[in-house]
Amino acid sequence: MPTVVPLRRGRILRVALDRASANPLYRQIYSSIRSDILTRQLPRGSRLPSTRDLAEDLEVARSTVVLAFEQLRAEGYLTGVPGAATCVSLSVPDEHLHPATVDGPNGMARRRSAPSRRGSAIIEAAQRSAWAIGRTPRAFRVGVPAVDIFPVGQWGRLMARRWAKTNSRQLAYSAPFGYMPLRTAVAEYLRGARGVRCTPEQVLIVAGSQQAIDLCARVLLDPGDRVWMEDPGYHGARGAFIGAGAEVVPVPVDAEGLAVREGIARAPDARLAFVTPSRQQPLGMTMSLARRFELLAWAGEAGWILEDDYDSEFRYASRPLAALQGLDQAGCVLYSGTFSKVMFPSLRLGYLVVPDALVDNFAAARHLTDYHSPYLEQAVMADFMHEGHFERHIRRMRSTYRARQHVLVESARRELNDFLRLDAADAGMSLIGWLHHHDDEALAVMAERAGVDVMPLSRLATGRPVDPGILLGYAGVDESQIRAGIHTLRDVLHRCPPRSNRR
Ligand SMILES: Cc1ncc(COP(=O)(O)O)c(C=O)c1O
Repeated sequence: MPTVVPLRRGRILRVALDRASANPLYRQIYSSIRSDILTRQLPRGSRLPSTRDLAEDLEVARSTVVLAFEQLRAEGYLTGVPGAATCVSLSVPDEHLHPATVDGPNGMARRRSAPSRRGSAIIEAAQRSAWAIGRTPRAFRVGVPAVDIFPVGQWGRLMARRWAKTNSRQLAYSAPFGYMPLRTAVAEYLRGARGVRCTPEQVLIVAGSQQAIDLCARVLLDPGDRVWMEDPGYHGARGAFIGAGAEVVPVPVDAEGLAVREGIARAPDARLAFVTPSRQQPLGMTMSLARRFELLAWAGEAGWILEDDYDSEFRYASRPLAALQGLDQAGCVLYSGTFSKVMFPSLRLGYLVVPDALVDNFAAARHLTDYHSPYLEQAVMADFMHEGHFERHIRRMRSTYRARQHVLVESARRELNDFLRLDAADAGMSLIGWLHHHDDEALAVMAERAGVDVMPLSRLATGRPVDPGILLGYAGVDESQIRAGIHTLRDVLHRCPPRSNRR
């Protein structure tokens, strides 16, 4: 039910909030007011209630309304400085305004442009996860590797050498599973470095682990099937499962990783469990051996496990625990990994290791999705591995990340101690800052505007609420940018209103 807020001159503001939705409340308020402006239900010059009054009416924290108003003000829909009356801008151009209904006669326009139910689910999930895509790396964007130290010259030479030798067969369509020398190199690497048990024939070269997850959803799930998803967990995977029509069941994680018993209690009949056992995304714990065996025992009877080993290369103190896949006797684990974090994300190359019995099914699904990954990049990647550049680059990335993490921890302890707790970790590309007084979503919105990206943990949690915290990626920018980013974040924390207990 929408809340109806009376305005002057008989006008009303109608805001419907879905408190169970993944879409943050401030965003819902923003969209609602923006839509009323565009459909002229709130004409130019209309005066809006104060943030305090509207927050009371909507039963949300004032900072939530402040954020919505700030966004509308920044985009030019509202005028008025904070503290004074806020009105609909007089300068919203006519061409952006349309009548109260966005439908044409008989609702034709809407019907033509409306996505399917599946499409809508994909769009909603993607809006949640498309975080700062396509922008230049800046502090503290999560998931962005050190592209600044990638050996571009070396890569370019290998590309040129390959290109010069390319024949017409290699320019034609090729097999969906990928370029065999690369599959062989990946299988060797995974056997040696990750304890994965596989032959090259089981390795499918894909367009990054996101495609691996999406393919698993297409091949293994029917609409309505239930999927265990780590909570908090990787939103890209959640989106792919929702897009396949699955019912995502959030399963909590604790110090040992996914709480398998909780998963069994909530959805014993789930068809698939998505896990990041090496380093849980986003909380960072390693799944204990006991939990791994519990999970395998469940899956051996009932379903599949998708192990996403997205950044296991980055261990700074010890060797990583071998992959869960290596313990699988029943052939129920699919293992995905990526070159996005060790090489660079725009390469769009990753791999999926599938049990023998599924090889042909996945080849068929890949064929109908986008046929195969590009030949040239696969061939150059194989050369990069065979000639030792890959190992060397991983070693360099490791020492760079260790140094960058050190600077982040030192700077944060020096400048942000009053606001958050941030502990060092011996793995990964990001750390969590646990906030003492602030709401993570509100802080993230203000920080983004000030020029730094932080990922609020609450955005990654869909079941029970998490303690407020922000993920700080440290891999993608150099030490001076990290120091400057911490400085900016401190200013933002000073300005950001502390959280109230109401959301
Ligand atoms: C846990 C996890 N899995 C998968 C991916 C997707 O990576 P890719 O670029 O290989 O699709 C990411 C990206 O950040 C991630 O964090």
